[in-house]
This record gives sequence, C-alpha cells and structure tokens, in this order.
Amino acid sequence: MSKAITPTLRGTRAQEDYLEQILTLIENKGYARVVDIAHNLGIAQASVTGMIQRMDADGLVAYEKYRGVILTEAGEEIAREIVRRHESLVEFFALFGLDEHSIYDDIEGIEHHMSQPILAAIQALTGELERQPALLERVKKKIAGCA
Ligand code: CO
Repeated sequence: MSKAITPTLRGTRAQEDYLEQILTLIENKGYARVVDIAHNLGIAQASVTGMIQRMDADGLVAYEKYRGVILTEAGEEIAREIVRRHESLVEFFALFGLDEHSIYDDIEGIEHHMSQPILAAIQALTGELERQPALLERVKKKIAGCA
C-alpha cells in the first residue's frame, strides 16, 4: 500500500509560472505590470492579458487600473509555495557549485513537479550536506567525474 501524499497547493504549470513572476515583480518593484510579466516570461503582451483575465475569473489574481496585477489570497498562497520550491532547488544545487543562472531553465521545469515529500527530502538533504563538508566534497568529485 502506498503512503498518501499530502496535497500541495498547485495551479497548472502556466498559472504557477505567472503567479511566481507576479509575486517576484511585486516584491522587487512594488507592482506587476502586464508589460513586465510579458517580458519576464517571454510571452506576447496580448497573450498575457488573456491569461490574466482567465486567472482573474479563477480567483487567483485581480487587475487594478493603477496598481496593475495583484494576487488574491489564493493566488498568493500558490505563488509563495512555488517560490519556496524554486529557492529550495537553488539552495540544493548551489551545494554542488551549480550556478543558479546556468540551471535556471532546469529549476523552472523541476519546480512544477515537486510534491511536499520531495520538497521535504531535498530540504533535509540540503541541511545534512551543509553539515557534512567531507561527504559533500566526495559527492562533488563524483559529479565532476561524470561531467
Ligand atoms: Co521558478
């Protein structure tokens, strides 16, 4: 019998990408405009506008004339969860000397496919490896040998 997996807050992959970008923009600039979301995601502005309207209907975001796109409580919860997954992956791979920019696309993919137990496993492993530099060095040498 398989162990039940705790459900995590999830959107579709596209919704998660948008919510992650919107939260990041709001935290860095104070607001999220369609033009910036489009630029950061590499998507045409018209497509972004359409997606924002659908996400508004789904209760994940709201559009305000002067503030741009804002997150609803539900949208912000999913956004914070995806950012948590992203940051945990950056922290984990940084242990092995992998630079966050060179593996950005990988992380953007993996972050959508992590249930709570996987996230917990990666966070626990990160903590243990940080406390065991000799083991980490051995692992890094193996990785270098495979590259
Ligand atoms: Co991400």
